[in-house]
Amino acid sequence: MADELEAKAWAVRALAHAPYSRFRVGAALLAADGRVFSGCNVENASYGLTICAERGAVVQAVAAGATKFTRIVVATDIDPPAAPRGACRQVLREFGPDLVVDSVGPHSRKQWRLWELLPEAFGPESLG
Ligand code: THU
Repeated sequence: MADELEAKAWAVRALAHAPYSRFRVGAALLAADGRVFSGCNVENASYGLTICAERGAVVQAVAAGATKFTRIVVATDIDPPAAPRGACRQVLREFGPDLVVDSVGPHSRKQWRLWELLPEAFGPESLG
């Protein structure tokens, strides 16, 4: 499934709207029920309104009724590949710490569990 996910991450990356940074990002998120949701970064002339690829994929998933996830693949054209940024780690953490996070570049890949990228996280359970 990781290979299919990686292919989807690369495919959606090509659709990124990144005229300001020119840094295209694609994300493919695997739900526990087998469905795959994808997102790309969508930049805005008002830079702060940019939407990250990972968050786009999460929004697509939740709007389709999926809130349990097992893996996300994030594709960028840099080596070593970039891990999801902090804000996206927090958004992903909402749905659990055990998510497998794959970052892939043209020639290399890295893999973590989300809890490694965001230890001691503030999550739903923190609210009691
Ligand atoms: N970006 C993402 O989409 N995800 C990340 O985890 C890191 C950054 C996007 C935001 C912006 O459009 C561009 O990459 C440069 O920061």
